[in-house]
Amino acid sequence: MKKIIFTGVTGLLLVACKPTTVEAVKEDKKEVTEAAVEFPNATVAEGSTLYIENCGSCHKLKPIKNYTTEQWAKIVPPMAKKAKIDSEKEAKILAYVTWQTQN
Ligand code: HEC
Repeated sequence: MKKIIFTGVTGLLLVACKPTTVEAVKEDKKEVTEAAVEFPNATVAEGSTLYIENCGSCHKLKPIKNYTTEQWAKIVPPMAKKAKIDSEKEAKILAYVTWQTQN
């Protein structure tokens, strides 16, 4: 009998301690989002967006780590032409894929 009462109280305590407030959930999500976009600088961050926006229309986005830095240096210029993007955007995409291959 004593044992049953003890279990009941422990259960209540566990529920009370769970961080279920909206603030706690928001905080968790924020951490996840920030961790996912931790780029070393603005150029690489913009390159990431440009890559997603411009490089997945004809084929699926190519997994960046499937190619070496040297291969990307040769691939990005002709692909940027195909995607009809200017040299500034091309440079940002190259900065992004280069960073990815090295991290
Ligand atoms: C107008 C269409 C088009 C766009 C836009 C495009 N590509 Fe491609 N891409 C192709 C075609 C066609 C191939 C060759 C077939 C394939 O591998 O799917 C190719 C192949 C590739 C390959 C494989 C190369 C290899 O030798 O294995 C990579 C990597 C690639 N593209 C990256 C990019 C990147 C980065 C961008 C954005 C700057 C981009 N593509 C935008 C059409 C496009």
